[in-house]
Order: sequence, then C-alpha cells, then structure tokens
Amino acid sequence: MSVYTEKNLFVLETKNTHYAMAVDCEGHLRHLHWGGKCKVKDYFCSETEERNSNHSGADFAKYEYMTYGGVIYRPSAFAAAFSDGCRQAELQYSDFSVFDEENGSRLEITLKDEEYSLEATLVYRITDGSDIIERSVRIANNSDKDITLNKISSGEFNFPSLKPYISTNANGAWASEFRLTKTPVESGVLTYESRKGNTGHGNCPYFILSQNADENHGGVYFGALAWSGNFRIEISRDFAGVTRAVAGISDMDFSYTLKSGETFTTPSVFCGYTQGFAEMSNQMNRYAVDNILPKEFAKEPLPVLYNSWEATGFDVNCKDQLELAKIAADIGCELFVMDDGWFGQRNDDHAGLGDWFVNKEKFPDGLKPLIDGVKALGMKFGLWFEPEMVNPDSDLFREHPDWAYHYPTRKAQLMRNQLVLNMTRSDVQEYIFNRLDAMLNEYDISYIKWDMNRPFSETGAENLQNPQELWYRHVTAVYDIVDRLKAAHPGLQIESCASGGGRAELGALSHYDMVWTSDNTDPVDRLYIQEGYSMLYPIKCMRAWVTDTNRRERPNDLDFRFIVSMQGSLSLGGNLHEYTKEEIEKSKKYVALYKEIRNTVQFGDFYRLATYENNGFYATQYNDDSQSVVFVCSPATSFFNDRLRTVLFKGLDAHADYCVSFDDCQFTKSGSYLMNVGISLDLTRPFTGKIIRLKRM
Ligand code: GLA
Repeated sequence: MSVYTEKNLFVLETKNTHYAMAVDCEGHLRHLHWGGKCKVKDYFCSETEERNSNHSGADFAKYEYMTYGGVIYRPSAFAAAFSDGCRQAELQYSDFSVFDEENGSRLEITLKDEEYSLEATLVYRITDGSDIIERSVRIANNSDKDITLNKISSGEFNFPSLKPYISTNANGAWASEFRLTKTPVESGVLTYESRKGNTGHGNCPYFILSQNADENHGGVYFGALAWSGNFRIEISRDFAGVTRAVAGISDMDFSYTLKSGETFTTPSVFCGYTQGFAEMSNQMNRYAVDNILPKEFAKEPLPVLYNSWEATGFDVNCKDQLELAKIAADIGCELFVMDDGWFGQRNDDHAGLGDWFVNKEKFPDGLKPLIDGVKALGMKFGLWFEPEMVNPDSDLFREHPDWAYHYPTRKAQLMRNQLVLNMTRSDVQEYIFNRLDAMLNEYDISYIKWDMNRPFSETGAENLQNPQELWYRHVTAVYDIVDRLKAAHPGLQIESCASGGGRAELGALSHYDMVWTSDNTDPVDRLYIQEGYSMLYPIKCMRAWVTDTNRRERPNDLDFRFIVSMQGSLSLGGNLHEYTKEEIEKSKKYVALYKEIRNTVQFGDFYRLATYENNGFYATQYNDDSQSVVFVCSPATSFFNDRLRTVLFKGLDAHADYCVSFDDCQFTKSGSYLMNVGISLDLTRPFTGKIIRLKRM
C-alpha cells in the first residue's frame, strides 16, 4: 500500500485500486480516478473552462471537497458562515503530509480559506491488504472570531461512469431493519437520512453504487459512515451524467460554532471499490474486526448469550431468573442477561426509566444472589439499561424535569411513555456515568445491553450557546460514556440496541462490541434482515437470537431457527420453561456445534452464496484456515420443479481436496470441483436448513 505524491498529484494505492487526486491551476483539489490501477504518470488534471452563461467549468469538474457558494449549485460537502456575514467559504489547496502507520499509511491534504483563517484537512487512511480507505475531515478555526459550520460532510465522492448507477440501501422500520432496496440514480438527488437523533431503522448511513453487478462481478463503489446520529447521504446525477455522493452528519437543524483555536473532526467514512458485492462485504467484514471494533474484544469470539426478556418481560425476580439461568447453562449458554424491569418502579413501560437503582420489591437482597447463582452455573452476568431515557413517572424526572429535551412553550410528546434526556448537559452525563459505574462497582456485571427506544422531539437545549449542536453533542456524549465505562471496567462488553437495530452501524461499532440487529426474531423475516446487515457490517457483531416468536404461526422448527441464528453471533431468547426435553436436547446440540464453528463464523471470510432475491434460496459461507461452514436455507415454496438447488462454494483452494459433510452424507471433492460444479441439494421442504462442513484434507 502506498501513497504517491508528485507535484500536484496524489495517488492512494490500495490492494487492487487507485484513488487519484490533483490540485488544479485554480488551487482546487480535484478528483481524477477511483478504480483499477493505472500508471501513475498517466494521471493529469484538465482545465475547467467556462462553458456558457449558465454553466461554469465547475459544473463539469469533480472536486474532492467542495464548499457551498460561488458557482457550485449541486449538493456540496461543506458550508460555513463567518462573523462578518459572509456565507461563502473558499477552500484552496495549501499543503500535504504523509504518515507511516502500523499497518498502512495516512495522507493529509490541507485546504485553506486564507481570508478567514479556516483550514480543512482531508484525511485518507489506507491499510495493508485491503481496498478500504478511511476518510475524515478536520476543520480548524485559526482566526480570532467564531466560525459557524452549517454542513460538515465526511467526504465527497465522484464516480466514473456517465451511465446511471444502481443504489443499494435499506427501506426499513422497527422490526423490519435492513430491508434492501435497489434504486437507479438517473437524475436529481437521492437522499438517505435519519432525522431522528439516532441512526434509526429506516435508511442505512452508507452508499453502495453499482452497474451490472452481482455477488461475483461488476464494479461496486461503497462508503459507510461511522455515525450513530442524524446522517445524510446525498447521491446525485447531474445534467452531464456525472454521479457524485456526499456523506456525513445531517445538516438538518444543525450548525456548530467553531470558536477561535478550536478544531472539529468529522466521523469517518469507510469507502472502497470492489468487483462484486461479495468482495465488498468480505473486505468490510474483515476490515471492521481489524480496524474499527473496540480493541479489547475485537478478536475474541462473542459468548453464546441467553436473554430472558421474551420469557419474563418486566416480571423479573431472583427465583424465576435463576430457574431460567439453570436451563440456559445446561444448554451451554455462557452469558445470562436480565433485560428490562429490574430497577425503579419498572413494572411496565410507564415508569422507572432513569432510576437505575435495583427494585427492592423484586430483589429484596439486591442482585447479588442472582449474580452469584448465575456465576455458580458457570455463566457471566449481563444487565439491561436505557441510559438516555427518562419516564415522567420516575424519581429522576420528578427531581430534574429540566433534564429532558424540551421547549417550555411546546407539549413534550411521549413515545413509549418516555422522554429523551438532554445528553449535552454535563450534569446529565455525570449522573448516567456515575449510576452505571456504581452498578458495575457494586455487582459483577460483564455485559450491558444499552438500549434506546425512542427518537428525539422538542429538541430544546438552552444549556448550549448554540443549541443546534445538540444533534452532534448527544451522540458524542453517548460514545464518551460508553468509552469511559469500558475503560473503568476492563472486561465489560456493551451491546448497542435501539428498539432492535436502530443504532447498528459502524459508528456504534467503533464503541460498542456488538449490536442487537432487530426486535424481529422470526427466522424467516430474519434472513432478509441478516442479508441486509451483512452488506457492510461485521458478522461477528450481529446478535441473532433463537426465540419463540411466531412459533405457532410459522411452520418452521427449532432446527431452522438455530440454522438462521448460527449465521451470526448465536444467542437464545425463548421461554426455556416451555421447551420440551427434546427441544432442550436439540438446543444443546446446536450450541455445542456453534462453539465448534464460531471462530470460523465470527472471524472467517464471509460470502453470500445465494439469496432469496437472486436464487430463490439462501446460503452463506464462512471460511478460515481450519474449516469452511455453509448454511443453506430452503425456499419458501415447495414446487416440484424447484426441488434441486446447486450450491457453488467460494474462497476454497482449487488444488486442495475437501471432506464435505452434511446430514448423513460425507464425501471428498476438490476445491475446484466445489467452486465450479458445486453440490446439488434437495430443498423441497420450505424453511428447512442444512449446515455443510468442509475440511481441507
Ligand atoms: C426494546 C429492545 C428489546 C427489549 C425491550 C425492553 O424493545 O429492543 O430487546 O430490551 O426494549 O423494554
């Protein structure tokens, strides 16, 4: 991996790609190329000439980070206003630096607005063995006056083809996260965003743009923003057919006052260019484990978790929880989690949020007897919190009614009977940190499920000089508390949950160790959710529960539920009291099997071999040096002529022989045979599954 810098030219060389930029004669940083490698000496920067009275040369140019104003009329990456009333920032190339890093290099290119002493440093980080480029921007105010930042994107992107690209993103909702959509970008601006304060369940904070691509072929451009708050991804195609994208924190109701001497660093956007969607997902999966996840547990397999929420709801007590814990331990679970209901006056979802003190009626002796019992069973203990929230019916709210976001003149709108705490206040931050820290000091808690069950409203934050900073400051306050708790309590794992997958992206995964993918645990729906999640996010962090949801309505058995959930981080969440002996035995068998394959699933190369949309059935493969594991899920229908399905494997050594085993079959085939001819499976019964294991001979 190298960074070439010659005169006005900058070329980032990744494993298979070049990303080239140059400074033009007007001092603008222009984008030249992103894609396959070329000879560096061939790159050049053309002039931008004025075309006519309505189109300047800027209309035809590709810029790396263009500011609002002047003759730029398309979505721009950056907008600022100065104290004298000028609202047009002009960033000209100033200088660059290249830094060697442990596993790659970093290029920093500084652009300056000399008149107002404003600096924007574009940061590009490349990593050995990967095509992923991490981009971010650092803004510095070197003047002696305030500068108001109105839009601060993490990156602007230009794509080479003049033909329309297909954009892949999600159109989701609660319990329907990551439902993939494909939209041609022919003209205008396609915007994916969240305005809810958190990432939300709707769109994903990324762009994926392709032409004639499938899992294996066709160029795919992608960029995933690491941010858990309001975001905006704007993909536009202009009159000349040029497609561009701008990705960053949303500028809706947002501004940030950068005081003299201060800097602001945007969240990172991780981008790349690959052939086919499979390579994109595989590279991002590996990259996240190596470079994004919090280091302490990044390379450790996640434990098999049992969460008692669906079994007991709010009705928690030591005896019932311990009874469930006994069964969970017998099945082989390694972490027992008590969910909502253990604190304050929390008997349903009307009261208690904010009062993070153990409910003495439910746990007269505190949580120690339960935690000791769980530990005696050989499991770790985990607990649910929803730190950013408060119920009006809580001691916290009675004492501090001003701690929730509010406008004195507006009615505070409840959702799930709760309000959002103003996390930009330092007293709120300290209260939350101190309560969780005290619980972690008092009790042996190894894991926290950090939930967030409603979006923002009435976002008054008069504690801030510039209240429009709240969208940014809330998110960084959450990240900061998570980081502080982990630093103060080594060994603590934290899961990000927001009514399911409302905060499941690379920003959350830069601080939390895993995410709750969706409250929807129906195994059939879940396959679509998991497919969507797997596009750009790490498999290891995808918590996947086997539960009883829709067990009566859906004709799928426990085997299928396990086969679906074993494709991520296996967890259990059903009411184990109601499991038959046979179901307990089956659960034990699958948990034991998962432990044999989990290193491969959580850290191996990952491929979607087949999807319902493209192939009518679903199959994923996970490879590492020790083995390969393939999960195959049958179609929803049972037509006779659809009986036989061919599974073509990926990522094997063509010259090696593999022992293939599934059901009662076992045979040996070469890697080349398995990848080119594959194996044919009878998948007549709807929603059944198979686990195929391959061992290199
Ligand atoms: C949210 C979460 C669930 C559960 C409940 C508890 O809905 O997504 O998993 O924790 O809250 O109230």
